[in-house]
Amino acid sequence: MYKLLSVWVLVVLSVQIVHSWDLAVAVQNRLEFYTKEDKIIVESDLFRDATALAYDDAHQTILFIKKHTDDASICSFEMSTQKHKVLVTGKDIGGFTIDPIRAVLYWTDIAERSIFWISFKQGYKETDNKNLLIKMEDEIPRAIAVDICKGYVYWTNTNSTKPTIERVRFDGTEKEVLVDESINDPVSLAIDQQTLKMFWADNTRNKKYRIFSTELDGKNKTELISGDFGTDFKPNALTVSKDLIYLIDEGTHAVWKHSKFLITESLKNILHFTEAPSGIVARYTPEEQIHGKVECKDVMTALLNDKIICVHGEKANATSCTCAPGYIGERCDVSVCQNYCNHGTCSVRTLLRVKYILKLLPLVVFDDPSLSLTRFLFQM
Ligand SMILES: *[C@@H]1O[C@H](CO)[C@@H](O)[C@H](O)[C@H]1NC(C)=O
Ligand SMILES: *[C@@H]1O[C@H](CO)[C@@H](O)[C@H](O)[C@H]1NC(C)=O
Ligand SMILES: *[C@@H]1O[C@H](CO)[C@@H](O)[C@H](O)[C@H]1NC(C)=O
Repeated sequence: MYKLLSVWVLVVLSVQIVHSWDLAVAVQNRLEFYTKEDKIIVESDLFRDATALAYDDAHQTILFIKKHTDDASICSFEMSTQKHKVLVTGKDIGGFTIDPIRAVLYWTDIAERSIFWISFKQGYKETDNKNLLIKMEDEIPRAIAVDICKGYVYWTNTNSTKPTIERVRFDGTEKEVLVDESINDPVSLAIDQQTLKMFWADNTRNKKYRIFSTELDGKNKTELISGDFGTDFKPNALTVSKDLIYLIDEGTHAVWKHSKFLITESLKNILHFTEAPSGIVARYTPEEQIHGKVECKDVMTALLNDKIICVHGEKANATSCTCAPGYIGERCDVSVCQNYCNHGTCSVRTLLRVKYILKLLPLVVFDDPSLSLTRFLFQM
């Protein structure tokens, strides 16, 4: 038996996605959010060929790079309101990362051979007021990551004569080279506060790929996995979660996973697409990243002091929120309609086209050109 019931998609999207997804992948014009059992697809031209996905848990915002013919932008997409913004534009943005504690966004500009930053303490906004962290002469900065506990920005340098991985303090001092041996084309980089490791993917000239880890000072380099898929396997993005490393590659159009703790024999293929995926991010909250780490104590204190974020509402005082109509919960992140979706059929409306795919259930789509009305059937 099916029953009809109406609910706005803003509600469905925010509640369903925000509370459950583990992994998000950008493919063509879609963002696909994966949970253990389901996936949710959000389709929009906004996401076409989005690269370098990142997720800001506190603001429930997905960030990504959009490349254009002459330049590139870092864009934000707030999941609960579905608001999209172009934050900064640069000549050739190679990668970006966020420090969720200090609310700073850092990015590399390949053409300018520089790392820039802006603050998003007052929320994500378009700005021309970028700040220079460091400008380089010979290095070509590309992937970037932060150690939020010790306060370093890390980047990969893809100058093919002398590729390196380097870091600098948040204030731009103490620049140092951490890795400069047996490294070829370090295209992606991730830092994990839990294991105190950095991970990177290296493309070698003979179509082999290698994934390495080192400690955060560059010592104890370990080859986690390497291989040759015979095709042009090209890992072009890498992300870490609580237990795993995920990567995507252009050659096989697949998402692969690997333990971040163990050196195992091979990568496991978990998803496969007809088109090449362009970006990936695992959900790994700042709390999970720094939990129980001595060197992160100050950061944890800052995080807890700053904890009060009102998702759909406003701060009433230092400890509580006044929620917007339709929302409840300490952080105003729970929709009053949430439970209806567990019991009936939801009809949802959005400016984007949204398909919510449930296991084994038929998907019914009604197209209303003005509203992009999409309806779904939920089993009773
Ligand atoms: C790469 O680095 C070397 C020195 O390490 C430098 O001489 C060369 O100009 C750099 N290449 C580019 C394209 O900047
Ligand atoms: C070096 O890293 C490997 C793999 O991550 C680990 O098993 C080993 O204990 C580390 N060695 C040292 C000296 O830290
Ligand atoms: C904050 O506001 C809430 C709700 O208005 C109130 O119950 C609470 O006592 C206030 N706390 C402080 C520290 O003022």
